[in-house]
Amino acid sequence: MNNIPVIAIDGPSGTGKGTVARLLAAELGWHMLDSGALYRLLALAATDRGVSLQDENALARLAPELDIRFGADEQGGEAILLDGVNVTDRVRSEQTGGLASQIAAFPQVREALVQRQRDFRVAPGLVADGRDMGTVIFPDAAAKIFLTASAEARALRRHKQLNGKENDASLTALFREISARDERDANRKTAPLRPADDAVVIDTTELDVPGVMERVLEVIRERCPEAFQSR
Ligand code: C5P
Repeated sequence: MNNIPVIAIDGPSGTGKGTVARLLAAELGWHMLDSGALYRLLALAATDRGVSLQDENALARLAPELDIRFGADEQGGEAILLDGVNVTDRVRSEQTGGLASQIAAFPQVREALVQRQRDFRVAPGLVADGRDMGTVIFPDAAAKIFLTASAEARALRRHKQLNGKENDASLTALFREISARDERDANRKTAPLRPADDAVVIDTTELDVPGVMERVLEVIRERCPEAFQSR
């Protein structure tokens, strides 16, 4: 039994999960796991190395070999390194998100990434962002939050996020891609996207980031008050 506390933040893309998890980790002084980035990096590495995205075995063998580092660039922005190369923009593209969702449906791929994700559980605590943090990876999380939002609101947010990076990311195309990704994530057999039984569901459609943070902090004060003592 591991007594390092975890706060799980799950939900589909565009609900503000990543932003909220990052702000929360900074506020508490805790570590942060962006589990989606691991699936995205595996999809990228496979593409670069000529491993077929249909080859479940080969993908699962590749997962533990990846040399991944999360850091910051000179401007303090996010920097994700794969084999020492900064691949942040490629990792964040909607195309990579789609490929990640394809390979994330393979049970052996998910299994190969379980320990890697649990290794992020380091004192004083971890904020884990993903789809199955509360259900599969950290079922003993002290607080589980599941963010939702209408598909339209999520497409709009992703569009804003990607703007300037993907000129061809039209809103209609994004809406279609996000809906397809959600459908695949929610209907796969292994670890489908769904709230844990003991998760608090927050609909963020009508909320801005400070509004979501307020609700999230309320839940944490109630379910994991010790989080504020580790600061
Ligand atoms: O959260 P993000 O958009 O980066 O995730 C990319 C894809 O990775 C998701 O659409 C999902 O298929 C997969 N994923 C997952 N389990 C997680 C995190 C992400 O299956 N815990």
